[in-house]
Amino acid sequence: MTSVSAHHSRVLSGMRPTGRLHLGHYHGVLKNWLELQHEYECFFFVADWHALTTHYEDPSIIPTSTREMVIDWLAAGINPGSATLFIQSRVPEHAELHLLLSMITPLGWLERVPSYKDQQERLKERDLATYGFLGYPLLQSADILMYKAGQVPVGEDQVAHVELTREVARRFNHIYGREPGFEEKAEEAKRKMGKKNAKLFDGLRRRYQEQGDQEALSVAHALLEGQANITLADRERLLGYLEGGGRVILPEPMPLLTKASKMPGLDGQKMSKSYGNTIALRDEPADVEKALRTMPTDPARVRRTDPGDPEKCPVWQFHLVYSNDQVRDWVQQGCRSAGIGCLECKQPVIDGVLAELMPMQQRAREYAAQPELLRNVINDGCERARDVAHETLEEVRHAMSLVMS
Ligand code: TRP
Ligand code: SF4
Repeated sequence: MTSVSAHHSRVLSGMRPTGRLHLGHYHGVLKNWLELQHEYECFFFVADWHALTTHYEDPSIIPTSTREMVIDWLAAGINPGSATLFIQSRVPEHAELHLLLSMITPLGWLERVPSYKDQQERLKERDLATYGFLGYPLLQSADILMYKAGQVPVGEDQVAHVELTREVARRFNHIYGREPGFEEKAEEAKRKMGKKNAKLFDGLRRRYQEQGDQEALSVAHALLEGQANITLADRERLLGYLEGGGRVILPEPMPLLTKASKMPGLDGQKMSKSYGNTIALRDEPADVEKALRTMPTDPARVRRTDPGDPEKCPVWQFHLVYSNDQVRDWVQQGCRSAGIGCLECKQPVIDGVLAELMPMQQRAREYAAQPELLRNVINDGCERARDVAHETLEEVRHAMSLVMS
């Protein structure tokens, strides 16, 4: 029996298949995933259907992009032993949940998602007046709710999608969580926890419902999470009972806002493929070195003898990521007094970047050399994901009366 506790500590995130990743992805997203995989049960997946919603006309790059991206995840240190890695289209249950959720999702909710109009404006060359594109955020909701994820690490641009997911979950629970005899069933479930716990639950429930005491709510959640003897359905009832609603079949997720990465591109702007200022995780060391050696510096330093200002130099931003205080002091002093040259200044950055990339490239080579290893990781992950998806869908089908008794 899976417990709500596992669900609440579950983390899920997805990335569209963009191909090889760069240091911006590493510092912005992957390092965060690396930490999360030790603390929570994590599901990370390639959102290949999401790629189709905008790139349906030229999908041929999707398979390669998917493969290269998963290799980079593994290279960065995502451990398939602790995190489940899968590909969205290999878990077709996502499509079924998307369909079922579409039945209860008001059109206006989707039309109002900011990315809907924004992206249509931005990607003018594509015709995004499609059914699939409108449904993009709801497909994302299905991705999240399928795993009953408690936390969804996303960037700022995706927070609205997690908010929509919360609304859809609430609506779903509201419509389908009201079973006949709910109160009696909840009371019965409560008694199954034993006298002491039932009393504790009552007290916490009262404190929450009468005084809006959030602390009581979290203690009650913890209490329910700790119960090994009650069924999933009973736990869902008690969760809903606690808050004064019906069964919580699909728990509402929280966005886990990923801090914007401090990693600049080679020109000091945000690192992004579309700006052509990236260092890819698997760029050849010689090319990385060359790119850093030739990257621009403070334009005021025309000659070696001209003093500069680190604040006006993209190299300084790299020092902020890669150097300790001592090196940074050396840069500040040396630059402002023309005591060091720019190449000299770049050397610790070059060393830092190469040292960071080296173990990743080593791991990537191992995966690239053993295609069956990668296949196994993906097959295993998809299978694990499908097991969970299967469970959730059973419940959802049941709640929506799609199962004959
Ligand atoms: N829409 C996300 C993006 O473009 C990718 C994504 C799809 C996702 N489904 C998700 C992210 C579920 C988090 C959770 O980046
Ligand atoms: Fe930039 Fe360093 Fe050159 Fe100063 S010395 S301009 S910080 S590269």
